Amino acid sequence: MLSSSIAPVITIDGPTASGKGTVSSLVAEQLGWTVLDSGALYRLTALVAVRAEVDTTNQQALAALARQLNVCFKQGACWLDGENVTEALRAERVGVLASQIATYEPVRTALLARQRDFLQAPGLVADGRDMGTVVFPTAPLKIYLVADAQSRAQRRYKQLIEKGISANLSDLLADLQARDLRDTTRALAPLKAADDAITLDSSALSIEETVNCVLAHWAAIQN
Ligand code: C5P
Repeated sequence: MLSSSIAPVITIDGPTASGKGTVSSLVAEQLGWTVLDSGALYRLTALVAVRAEVDTTNQQALAALARQLNVCFKQGACWLDGENVTEALRAERVGVLASQIATYEPVRTALLARQRDFLQAPGLVADGRDMGTVVFPTAPLKIYLVADAQSRAQRRYKQLIEKGISANLSDLLADLQARDLRDTTRALAPLKAADDAITLDSSALSIEETVNCVLAHWAAIQN
């Protein structure tokens, strides 16, 4: 089927700020594979909707935007119509809107095929919420990456402060918990571990340890 016939996929799903993005990029780099940041597609749709002043409750209009995104990922950056929007995508309000529009069925359907199009040899590391459950259900390795909310809020706080962006730890924690709640309780493709996923708790692990753990699981499958 899809994931095994074209190229292998490692899916890395988990809640916001669990380190999925960094871990996925480093695992992909080590294996020489492509990486899919599926959350960026939801964030891009949200960003384009705000910029085009599209009604963010109009599900069909948002799905049309999602289908038409002229996006390209290269050199660790995300380009929309030739503009580097990497920073713009990280804005908290874009993340919050992305999580809202991710509950709309037409938007998820519009992005499904686009996500599968990222699959190419020699392999793909797919980072998101429903990579193992919906987008690549036959992936040979599925990781469900978790970390306690306090650790995740602290990581995000540190990232923002390092970038010179002011932040408030308790606001970040509250936002992250609200997003977790919305992602896990939505009717469509809720955030959850696939039945055959390996749950990895990174609360007390460094990025390097987490990456090595994923690579060890991948190596174990090969033997
Ligand atoms: O991972 P990131 O925080 O960039 O994702 C933004 C939002 O997009 C998430 O809060 C989630 O609601 C949504 N999303 C999703 N399915 C995915 C990836 C992201 O619903 N596969």
